[in-house]
Amino acid sequence: MNSSEIREKFLKYFESKGHTIVRSSSLVPGNDPTLLFTNSGMVQFKDVFLGQDKRSYSRATSSQRSVRAGGKHNDLENVGYTARHHTFFEMLGNFSFGDYFKRDAIHFAWELLTGVYQLPKEKLWVTVYQDDDEAYGIWEKEIGVPVERIVRIGDNKGARYASDNFWQMADTGPCGPCSEIFYDHGPDVWGGPPGSPDADGDRYIEIWNLVFMQFNRDEQGVMHPLPRPCVDTGMGLERIAAVLQHVHSNYEIDLFQHLIKAAARETGCADLANNSLKVIADHIRACSFLIVDGVIPGNEGRGYVLRRIVRRALRHGYKLGQTKPFFYKLVPDLVKEMGAAYPELAEAQTRVEQVLKQEEERFGETLEHGMKILEAALAKDAKRLDGKTAFTLYDTYGFPLDLTADICRERNVELDEAGFEAAMEEQRKQARAAGKFKMAAGIEYSGEKTEFVGYDKLEQEGKVVALYVGGSAVQRIEAGQEAIVVLDTTPFYAESGGQVGDSGLLESAGAAFEVADTQKIQADVYGHHGKLARGALAIGDGVTAKVDAEVRAQTMRNHSATHLMHMALRQVLGGHVAQKGSLVDAEKTRFDFSHNAPLTADEIRRVEEIVNREILANESTQAQHMGYDDAIKYGAMALFGEKYGDQVRVLGIGSSKELCGGTHVNRTGDIGLFKIVSEGGVAAGIRRVEAVTGEAALAFVQNLAARVSEAASALKVQPEELTQRITQVQDQVKSLEKELAALKSRMAASQGDELVAQAVDINGMKVLAATLNGADVATLRETMDKLKDKLKTAAIVLAAVNEGKVSLIAGVTKDAIGKVKAGDLVNFVAQQVGGKGGGRPDMAQAGGTDPSKLGSALQGVADWVRERA
Ligand code: ALA
Repeated sequence: MNSSEIREKFLKYFESKGHTIVRSSSLVPGNDPTLLFTNSGMVQFKDVFLGQDKRSYSRATSSQRSVRAGGKHNDLENVGYTARHHTFFEMLGNFSFGDYFKRDAIHFAWELLTGVYQLPKEKLWVTVYQDDDEAYGIWEKEIGVPVERIVRIGDNKGARYASDNFWQMADTGPCGPCSEIFYDHGPDVWGGPPGSPDADGDRYIEIWNLVFMQFNRDEQGVMHPLPRPCVDTGMGLERIAAVLQHVHSNYEIDLFQHLIKAAARETGCADLANNSLKVIADHIRACSFLIVDGVIPGNEGRGYVLRRIVRRALRHGYKLGQTKPFFYKLVPDLVKEMGAAYPELAEAQTRVEQVLKQEEERFGETLEHGMKILEAALAKDAKRLDGKTAFTLYDTYGFPLDLTADICRERNVELDEAGFEAAMEEQRKQARAAGKFKMAAGIEYSGEKTEFVGYDKLEQEGKVVALYVGGSAVQRIEAGQEAIVVLDTTPFYAESGGQVGDSGLLESAGAAFEVADTQKIQADVYGHHGKLARGALAIGDGVTAKVDAEVRAQTMRNHSATHLMHMALRQVLGGHVAQKGSLVDAEKTRFDFSHNAPLTADEIRRVEEIVNREILANESTQAQHMGYDDAIKYGAMALFGEKYGDQVRVLGIGSSKELCGGTHVNRTGDIGLFKIVSEGGVAAGIRRVEAVTGEAALAFVQNLAARVSEAASALKVQPEELTQRITQVQDQVKSLEKELAALKSRMAASQGDELVAQAVDINGMKVLAATLNGADVATLRETMDKLKDKLKTAAIVLAAVNEGKVSLIAGVTKDAIGKVKAGDLVNFVAQQVGGKGGGRPDMAQAGGTDPSKLGSALQGVADWVRERA
């Protein structure tokens, strides 16, 4: 039974038992920045178990793509060294949301394994949680598993409920006892049954975990029974496939064999048992699916995990002797293998290839250099790689530490991780010192933090607490001086979260300081950058700080519109859209996000419609402070990799909820009008949209309308008829061009006829040098061909002058090239008109810049030929 059939049979079996087949969700968990990757089938149903979400079905089944790399569950280091570890795997599962419980879950599992998959009953072992007499009874009495093959597993991890047979989603939340089904690979393989001292061996392998969600664990660790208990099961497709295909290692199953062969093909490795091929075959799955789900290789968070996996694969390719980009070439093989089950993979194929190829090219060169550094270090000490070298590899050559560790492990070299950490810390210290130095050269501040009041106020009395000129602290500034002013309290927003800093005025009876920009000089200390326009300002002075209300209003409109646009983009394009960068100022909002294709005109229109509908609804903006976890539960969007404090500010603008510290409009209606003005790509898989709001949007639309009406009146039509008219004009131009070309050629031909008579005879060779008025190069060539035909044995130079430039062409008939070469001939003329040229002996072309010399140059041709003929 091949993997596709196994997957298909699983889903179909549960469908026949009233389960809805649910598609695999993304590897990037929706709206859950706390979880790095989807790592099991239940992730997409987390809220359903918690009772916070309802579905139209109470039974579901899925084949869920899962990744266990980076984060808490991390199998990356083991891939290639064991028979069963993967970064990417598929988890088959069935789920009951308050519907059936233990009895049906156990009966279903048994029937599928022994009935549908036809596994021999005597090879199956089961475990139950030690107190779970109910499950034990079902296995023993109803299923008939002999008691010697039912094992009770207790709290074997040191605390109540800390057991291999008690599964919990997290420290809090739904949890319950579980029952696991094991397959006995036979006495040829070392290992003991579950619960025995040799359980770690490979003989008895867990294939299916049935979790009976029974409790909700609260923060104090108290277990509250769920009103409606649930079921969550998970069976690794690769493991069950190994059992059903009678192989011991997951890497021997059909699906992997094809990928391993493809990896062998691309790396030129003949030994199919080579571990590096397994690594590559495993990694192409993880990398491709991560890219499908919107992850881009980068230096942080999910992007860095992806980068580490790609680099590890490339290193293994390099080890097999492949130094050119090869990894991306496995994508079509993967699509062939898994595209039918995961259409999203097939759809994204080209993008996946592009992203991988780019990443390979980026790392290719440094990999080679880095390996040389590494070899040199190991040549000196073959037992231990020092932390400094590991750090150089990391810092300069982009070797993630786990990649270096991988190399060390396969060569039995000890890696000095502590030394690596120390080198890393040293660099951090230096960076901090450099930062400190910059601050010392610029701004040293040790006073109170700034109190920011600019969410509600644009004007505020404040006191000057620090002044800096040219980077040094001063007591007082005079008119004309550029400075940074720090106040005890301010309504000025300092640049952060993509929103630019405020501008405005600090005023007192004796002074006016024009603020051009506001930037934080420390995390909570705001610096007003600008120039003292009049008077003098000293520490301790009171000022009225006035934000430029107009600029701030425009900026707020753009910022609020950004939130609405983010939400609309997710609605129109899908949940993979994640913010990758933003810049909001008074003119526009610029928003970068992960998406694999240019937005179509229709998608742009829909995004604009959604945002403008929110604007028309004119809802008031809500800002609430709450705990981070509560905010996420509440459905607020957070940026992965962004650091948030325990308390966060949740901005509700229309239907969008986002964590944000920026300043926003009071009601969505304040935005006025929203219009996208441009869309483009900034990097592989990342798009950029720019949009305008309020007056700027109006100006944009008016400008557009004015252009349209100008164009319409120039073409003497109504604006509605513009497109039609342009098409007409284009057709006309095309047909005129055709006509013109025909005419030119006819004209040139007739000029050619006249020219025949001008040819002079030099020792049996006809020589002709002439200017063809109005001809282009194509016409010159055509005429040349005709003249050669007519003159038989001949040497010809034709010239034309267009826009002050000379075009020249020389032709010599085949029977005359023994005497004169077209290349020499054309050069003879070209040199006199300020040019140079060359070509074949029978045909050559040149250009020149001095038409005034053309006449005499052509006149000299006959003599030039005479000397040679
Ligand atoms: N959620 C369970 C697991 O991952 C089935 O083992």
